[in-house]
Amino acid sequence: MREDVAKILITEEEIQRRVRELARQIERDYEGKDLLMVGLLKGAVTFMVDLTRAMQRPVAVDFMAVSSYGSSTESSGIVRILKDLDESIEGRHVLIVEDIVDTGLTLRYILEVLRQRGPASLRVCALLNKKERRLVDVPLDYVGFDVPNEFVVGYGLDFRQIYRNLPFIGVLKPEVYARA
Ligand code: PRP
Repeated sequence: MREDVAKILITEEEIQRRVRELARQIERDYEGKDLLMVGLLKGAVTFMVDLTRAMQRPVAVDFMAVSSYGSSTESSGIVRILKDLDESIEGRHVLIVEDIVDTGLTLRYILEVLRQRGPASLRVCALLNKKERRLVDVPLDYVGFDVPNEFVVGYGLDFRQIYRNLPFIGVLKPEVYARA
């Protein structure tokens, strides 16, 4: 896997340090409130696990899986729910956990769907923010890192389901996705 990575953008240590900072910030912001963290499968799993493990307060977790129609590398904005939440979010403080926000189309759809279910609050924590690619404005309450418009993999992010288990965020060599 590592030989397919052109460069490391964010090291394992940098990620872990930032995850701990975000955990502290979330703990402070939600003090005295019940918190339900909603991870979006599959990319956010790694981040979600480390983030919740870095928190020293009780936290409920749930997961949702969505897929966008269209090609695998371009978001179409038409999103389908593959796995819905197990729990009701009505009256609860919900924090959506994402690995990366690119065009913003996936997140916009999820925010619309979840808002209709009447949560007490609804916020977003994204590890990576690829601002250059944004097509729709979505509010990001917590961001790990801004990343350039490059093909990033690792720490949950994949290319054709590979590279998710790299402990760092790297840029994939162009020849890897060109030959696929
Ligand atoms: C990625 C990522 C976001 C979405 C961001 O998911 O996890 O959900 O794309 O793109 P957008 O801002 O342009 O909508 P992907 O569909 O690759 O699925 P995965 O999480 O299973 O890897």
